[in-house]
Amino acid sequence: MGKREDLYQSIFSSLIDGIIVVSRDLKIVRGNLAVEEMFRESHDSFEGKDLAEFFPGQPALSEKITRAFETGSSFRDFEGLGFRKSSRVAFPVNISLSPMLDAEGRARRVTLLLKDMSLVKELEESSRQLDRMASLGVLALGMAHEIKNPLVAIGGSAHLLRKELSSPDQKKYLEIVVSEVDRINRMMERMLDFSRPKKMRVQPTNIHKVLEEILVLEKKSLEKKNGRFVQVYDPSLPRIEADEDQLKQVFINLVQNAVDASPEGGEIRLVTRVATDYSVKTARDPNPRMQIAVEVVDSGPGISEENLRKLFTPFFTTKPKGNGLGLAISLKIVEDHQGKIKVMSEKGAGSSVQVFLPVRQT
Ligand SMILES: Nc1ncnc2c1ncn2[C@@H]1O[C@H](COP(=O)(O)OP(=O)(O)OP(=O)(O)O)[C@@H](O)[C@H]1O
Ligand SMILES: [Mg+2]
Repeated sequence: MGKREDLYQSIFSSLIDGIIVVSRDLKIVRGNLAVEEMFRESHDSFEGKDLAEFFPGQPALSEKITRAFETGSSFRDFEGLGFRKSSRVAFPVNISLSPMLDAEGRARRVTLLLKDMSLVKELEESSRQLDRMASLGVLALGMAHEIKNPLVAIGGSAHLLRKELSSPDQKKYLEIVVSEVDRINRMMERMLDFSRPKKMRVQPTNIHKVLEEILVLEKKSLEKKNGRFVQVYDPSLPRIEADEDQLKQVFINLVQNAVDASPEGGEIRLVTRVATDYSVKTARDPNPRMQIAVEVVDSGPGISEENLRKLFTPFFTTKPKGNGLGLAISLKIVEDHQGKIKVMSEKGAGSSVQVFLPVRQT
């Protein structure tokens, strides 16, 4: 190979964006290293294959490639979905394509430039979540102050009045006033507690111990539905640096949601495993972080796509007595730990909530 080819070859393989060279019959001629990484396949498993195997159901893409062959035109920055065959996972990609012209100006090949957009999309999603959290803080403080004082007055008066009344019916109505005032009070406390900046007390934490302590509390409510917990713990799970009390709150919230969602005789699985966080791979910190994943899986009714989007919005609830704060608070705590929460659910197929936490805080 000549010097120049060597140079081209090394540029081709060292690019961090994926490059796929396509022939006129829409077969893959070559792909670089970044493509191998993107699709989790070695190059010999995609060379010679139909492009459509890796971008299924996207006629717009083949149309553009055909146009590039016929007219020599290029296309920049459109969205596509790559498909990882081994794991059957689709991921968002940004595609630009341009024809490679020969000496006569005819297109021999078309090259696709691919950027994996998974991380960008994920960041967009988590910044949306953060926006919601920021507005909650302001709202919580403002509301709590406004509501607390009249609430104390209402509660106190109702108490006094209850003593004065003799009619059992009237007493019953007043009981409702008192207990509902208590309920609002508790909710205010929870909100205020949440919006006050809290110091994290980080220490080596055994997540299995945290989960077991929670299960002692939650077992009874699941047994009422004749359900049971199934623990699938990875015994090699390392301790993590975390605030144990705060994490307890997170998993109480998640387990309570799972219990609420459980049907009669339902099973709730608690799964722990070691995970690797590729998304923090940066030039400064090239080693993916070690993290643990804790998953709470229920066999409940699942969550509709519309509700999935509202899940972390404070006060979003579908429960008659819910506050809609459990997940918002959990997300705040997990993010304070530099972790992530992922919810996967389909209507009718149960829900799985995954919490990712770094082993070490950075
Ligand atoms: N495992 C689950 N299965 C089905 N729906 C769920 C699940 N977890 C959460 N949800 C939905 O998300 C909503 C919000 O949950 P979140 O925990 O934030 O509030 P909540 O449970 O309604 O009230 P609370 O403040 O008492 O936790 C729930 O009302 C429910 O509709
Ligand atoms: Mg809840």
